[in-house]
Amino acid sequence: MSHRIALNFEDGTTRFIDANEGESIADAAYRQGINVPLDCTNGVCGTCRAFRQSGEFDPGSYIEDALSEAQAAEGYVLCCQAKAKSDMVIDILASSGACKVKPKDTIAEIVEVEALSAHRIRLSVKPLEGAFPMFLPGQYVNVTAPNEMTKRPYSFTSAPGADVATFLIRNVPGGKMSAYLEAKAKKGDRLLVNGPFGSFYLRAPRRPILFLAGGTGVGPILSMLEHLAARGANDQPVQLVYGARDDADLVEVKRIEALAARIPKFTYHTSCSGPGSRQPLAGHVTDHLTAGALNNGDVDVYLCGPPGMVESGRQHVAKLGLLPANIHYEKFVPASEAFAA
Ligand SMILES: Cc1cc2nc3c(=O)[nH]c(=O)nc-3n(C[C@H](O)[C@H](O)[C@H](O)COP(=O)(O)OP(=O)(O)OC[C@H]3O[C@@H](n4cnc5c(N)ncnc54)[C@H](O)[C@@H]3O)c2cc1C
Ligand code: FES
Repeated sequence: MSHRIALNFEDGTTRFIDANEGESIADAAYRQGINVPLDCTNGVCGTCRAFRQSGEFDPGSYIEDALSEAQAAEGYVLCCQAKAKSDMVIDILASSGACKVKPKDTIAEIVEVEALSAHRIRLSVKPLEGAFPMFLPGQYVNVTAPNEMTKRPYSFTSAPGADVATFLIRNVPGGKMSAYLEAKAKKGDRLLVNGPFGSFYLRAPRRPILFLAGGTGVGPILSMLEHLAARGANDQPVQLVYGARDDADLVEVKRIEALAARIPKFTYHTSCSGPGSRQPLAGHVTDHLTAGALNNGDVDVYLCGPPGMVESGRQHVAKLGLLPANIHYEKFVPASEAFAA
């Protein structure tokens, strides 16, 4: 017996799919040519989170980082896990256009690998032939190292359409991809880039925007800022609070400064949680979230960084009793928890 599922996309498009008994919503969607946001397919990353408007379902199994108890109670489901038990209506947290873009393999060549600090690497790559598939600012790709069989998700920091794509990568002690990038990677190495993926992308600015970035979580936000700067037509105030543990890891600030000169009404603050910092703000990024910064709720919040930072940001906003018009977030879950390392 199959169940009919209506998928509502953010741009108002609705598509209907049939799901077989025991088939996940994501499997059913892909079988019928609809590429809902998906990554680990294992209930680990949270990329496939969607909102259940109606219908009975089996939620499947997943970890707390992918879907918290509170989110499940609010009505969120994971499409890679949830199986329909009746007809359903599901809000997909992405546009229909994004869901029809098929992830594509691109062979890319390393243009440059730079250590920006002991814990931060900037990777620049360009496609061997043609161009990278179009992506939405904020999306990510899975990058596979040559002969390493190591595949890791990294978010573009460059704007969609740039000839050279850039990534800001945390150099994780003992990490497989980190070790390759730190010690072996060189100009001309070939990487497999597969994507784009993800529903953490910049929506059309309709109200003030607040970006909150922890560590390399500033990466996808840089891509969004690059896009705003290139488009040049935004008249909404844009604010960024960017934090790290150590001053040395607050990288790409010059780039942010240059973006500030190109984006009207853009302001940014840097914050450091470690001792002896020279930054104007101290503590965690979320310590600076006030009702004023949240424009009393009339704001679109974009939150990205380590899972703990993203979660405490969401809880902090809830404690203030403010409901931002929209809150979009991406947790940089260690990929070895999502893929077979
Ligand atoms: C959607 C998405 C987008 C991402 N985008 C980026 C990005 O743009 N830049 C970026 O730097 N990272 C990003 N990440 C996280 C990144 O993929 C991991 O940090 C990466 O897997 C590290 O790979 P590795 O091979 O160096 O370490 P691994 O071999 O995967 O890990 C080695 C050890 O370090 C731990 N570990 C791995 N990563 C982290 C981490 N970030 N923090 C703390 N401990 C960790 C692991 O649990 C493991 O114990 C993203 C993750 C997701 C899910
Ligand atoms: S794709 Fe469903 S949790 Fe990762």
